[in-house]
Amino acid sequence: MNMKKEWSDSYKLDIPIIDDAHEKLFDGFNQFIEKAEQRASTAELTISFRELLQDVATHFAEEEEIMLDMGYSSFKTHKEIHDNLIHDANEVAHDLELTNDEIDILPFIECLHTIVIDHIIECDLMIGRFYHKKEKEE
Ligand SMILES: [Fe+2]
Ligand SMILES: [Fe+2]
Repeated sequence: MNMKKEWSDSYKLDIPIIDDAHEKLFDGFNQFIEKAEQRASTAELTISFRELLQDVATHFAEEEEIMLDMGYSSFKTHKEIHDNLIHDANEVAHDLELTNDEIDILPFIECLHTIVIDHIIECDLMIGRFYHKKEKEE
């Protein structure tokens, strides 16, 4: 089963600084799957899970700055979603850490999929639409 996700133009907001960061997060997501496929230990998987979460948190903070700068109308809701995603994923990271080596890695991959890929589709693409609409009006 191939769970890796290939980056494509359909994920682009056409805001290069955000798109570049998203593409890097895709790479991190795929690297985690690769580690899982290579049957890395729970300790190793926990490290790489937490590293990716750290990258996501850094990206979220940067994206929030950008949203504020452009006067994004849904900033508050979007930031709340970021905060909740990070909070939930930290709990999942903790579960991963405490799991023995007979783990079913699927729920952990799903968690990363939610925070990296689904979030772009469900929320971030709207930032792009807002930005380009505003640009046209100006
Ligand atoms: Fe976001
Ligand atoms: Fe994002």
